[in-house]
Amino acid sequence: MSQAIIDLFKAYVIPNYTRFPLVLDHGEGSRVWDTEGTRYLDFFPGWGCGLIGHCPPRVVEAVREQVGKLIHVPNTWYIAAQGELGQALSERTGWGGQCFFCNSGTEANEAAIKIARLNGKPGRYKIVTTFNSFHGRTFGALSATGQPKYHEGLEPLLAGFSYVPFGNLEATAAAIDDETCALMVEPIQGEGGINLPPAGYLEGLRALADKHKLILIFDEVQTGMGRTGKWFAHQHFGVPPDVVTLAKALGGGVAVGGLIATPAAAEKLKPGTHAATFGGNPIACRAALATIETIEADGLLDRAVAIGERFRQRFEALRGRCPLIQDVRVKGCMIGVELAVEGKPIVEECLKRRLLINVTHGTVMRLLPAMNLSDAELDEGCDILESVLLAHKA
Ligand SMILES: Cc1ncc(COP(=O)(O)O)c(C=O)c1O
Repeated sequence: MSQAIIDLFKAYVIPNYTRFPLVLDHGEGSRVWDTEGTRYLDFFPGWGCGLIGHCPPRVVEAVREQVGKLIHVPNTWYIAAQGELGQALSERTGWGGQCFFCNSGTEANEAAIKIARLNGKPGRYKIVTTFNSFHGRTFGALSATGQPKYHEGLEPLLAGFSYVPFGNLEATAAAIDDETCALMVEPIQGEGGINLPPAGYLEGLRALADKHKLILIFDEVQTGMGRTGKWFAHQHFGVPPDVVTLAKALGGGVAVGGLIATPAAAEKLKPGTHAATFGGNPIACRAALATIETIEADGLLDRAVAIGERFRQRFEALRGRCPLIQDVRVKGCMIGVELAVEGKPIVEECLKRRLLINVTHGTVMRLLPAMNLSDAELDEGCDILESVLLAHKA
């Protein structure tokens, strides 16, 4: 069964992903099953989209109901779900804001780049971002991504982007000139290795943006929707952006992206400047509303903090016994463990032991577990990781 499906991919699907030979069939919470019926524990559900686990019941129910009622209408008309989702997100920022909806993180960042450029008119179009950032694969977001390996062969990129080290305010200030319109930063770098911002960094970015009248964009595609224990990671630092971009967990696994912008920044996005045919469709919006309801009704913001602490304790305790562990970086359900060796063999060994994890930047083991992971599941996975790391021969 699995091999037949893998053969279909070989024949008919462009091989632009590195895939493990595992064909998944169904999931529930932090568990997934393959087509042979083998069960796996998933510490990386949906590459960050499964923040409330696989097939969260309220999302499943909301989508089922909506799909039988109205699947898609264009943004020529009003629908209740999009307005309600806009309100739900805006109210949770603490600084208000209006929303634009699309289908993915890269699209959300494209819209943010347009807002920045439209606000920079006349004359200002440059955007300062950071090395090791990840903002997406479409050309604007790709140009914003400060990692040359993703640019190779695709140049020329969109003009106007410059990159400075994450956490370095002096370098950021030095990169701003008369043509700069925005700063764009992930509050915690995700793909870049779960890099936490140094004290005062986000506050300093806000001050620079205010001083130079720049749009401050926080890319919260990975950190948003409660993953770090607050709705948005920037809320830990009390630093409001002008634009925050979202996707991944927003729809509880259903494809939806969007941004929230202050009314002053959003004002420039007028009819004709931007659009997405599927953006804010009824199914996506109902799924996102059910995701928010789940996080609140089940107390998952607090749970995310508790999960982070338990992971931290487990890895810090192991660190003393395992020289492979160089650093442990945790913010809620965003966990990075820097290893002294390449992480790929660790991922492969975990897969054999039926635990799904990720490695980013070669040596950073990245876990983005669901906020409703139980203590028993957490310990089960950590026991596997512990034995894999301790047994690993560099
Ligand atoms: C911070 C951040 N921004 C943007 C993106 C791109 O999102 P998508 O793959 O939905 O386009 C990602 C994806 O990993 C991300 O982590």
